[in-house]
Amino acid sequence: MITKPKGTYDILPDESRSWAKLEDTIRKICKLYNYKEIRTPIFESFDVFHRDQNDTSDMVTKETYDFKDRSDRQITLRPEGTAGVARAFVENKLYVDNPVSKLFYMGPMFRYERPQKGRNRQFNQFGVEALGSDSPLIDAEVISLGASLIRALGLKDIKVKINSLGDEESRNSYRDVLVKHFSSHVDDLCEDCKVRLEKNPLRILDCKVDRDKDFFKTAPKINDYLNKESKERFDAVLEALDGMDLQYEVDYNLVRGLDYYCHTVFELEANIPEFGAGNVLGAGGRYDKLISDLGGPKTPSVGMAFGLERLLLANSLSGKKLVNEDTIHAYFIALGEKAAKETTKIMNVCRIGGLSCDMDYLSGSLKSQFKKADKNNAMFTLILGDNELEEFKINIKDNRTDEQETISLYDVYPYIVNKLNKAALGACAGCDKKEK
Ligand code: HAM
Repeated sequence: MITKPKGTYDILPDESRSWAKLEDTIRKICKLYNYKEIRTPIFESFDVFHRDQNDTSDMVTKETYDFKDRSDRQITLRPEGTAGVARAFVENKLYVDNPVSKLFYMGPMFRYERPQKGRNRQFNQFGVEALGSDSPLIDAEVISLGASLIRALGLKDIKVKINSLGDEESRNSYRDVLVKHFSSHVDDLCEDCKVRLEKNPLRILDCKVDRDKDFFKTAPKINDYLNKESKERFDAVLEALDGMDLQYEVDYNLVRGLDYYCHTVFELEANIPEFGAGNVLGAGGRYDKLISDLGGPKTPSVGMAFGLERLLLANSLSGKKLVNEDTIHAYFIALGEKAAKETTKIMNVCRIGGLSCDMDYLSGSLKSQFKKADKNNAMFTLILGDNELEEFKINIKDNRTDEQETISLYDVYPYIVNKLNKAALGACAGCDKKEK
């Protein structure tokens, strides 16, 4: 048997409705914040993600799926959305018509990581990118959009962790003191951190291996090295979050795992103990140089991405149902070949009229067909046997009330529609009075 590759999974029919509902919720929230959809290729030129020889992020150095196509072009499966969106922004000159582009995307990403709960090799991200504005208010807007999404999934306990990496000047002065600090503990650093010490010492703070060592706790903190401008900018972001009543926790060790960030960085967590390592639902930050690194004009930008698998996992652990049970309008039980043929005609009429229907194409026993009607949560079960067929009649059961009737084959569609309309009217108090 051929099986799926490690770190991938199938979304089966039972789960796909939750995915559709989540995607629908995301689209509605993006509309509220006026972010417009962009769809970029799943594979890009290698250089889109491997821009900088000095990049120390695990994602770029260890996790990308890189290959040569049949014409010897170096290709990378996208490990994240931001760089591809930035490439599309520059290539399509989106900056010409709009000084600020507010974009969102959803789709599969690929990282060669060790698979575990909430961590896959093919996973799906929803991301937003606001390109063209330097305002601290838009950093707060992006975080607020993320919090709205988490809330819309019924998760109340949201934790926003936030930090500022400052501008280049601030990072350079912080870099110097960090190098000094970690150089005196170089023998205790893991192999990756030894490389980071040379190339990007800030990223040492993100190390999962060295994190609990004592010399980590005594490392200098970035906020002591932010220059006046960076500090004021960070305060303005926090003030905007306060204004929206969004709770946050400033975490001076938060540096994030990607090298393109400056100023604001943040993570949104769900406070769900069973979640373990995959606790971070979404994360992002400001990246003011990425667009110009890709050949575009100077474009200060900020964005964020969520793992859709993690959002669904958090939602199911919270016990909140994203979708109601799957139902269909009518399930037909046909007893005999003639009845089955007639049933396909009636279903055709019903489907054209907008009713969802199904029947048993395996011609199972009466008992097994009833079971299937049940499994499909049919609102109505219809039984057509030879006797009924001779009289051009069909037996119909309303599964919500257990009422049963025998009606003309011609009446199936209007009968069901009429019952559904009555139920809808009954659900509306004002209409209910009219009915009486
Ligand atoms: P990231 O932190 O690498 O940031 O990923 C964002 C989110 O994607 C994570 O918080 C997590 O929910 C999900 N995720 C990442 N890796 C996996 C995986 N292997 N399996 C399942 N879910 C995963 C970025 O990707 C940046 N592009 C975010 C951003 C947008 N920054 C600015 N704009």
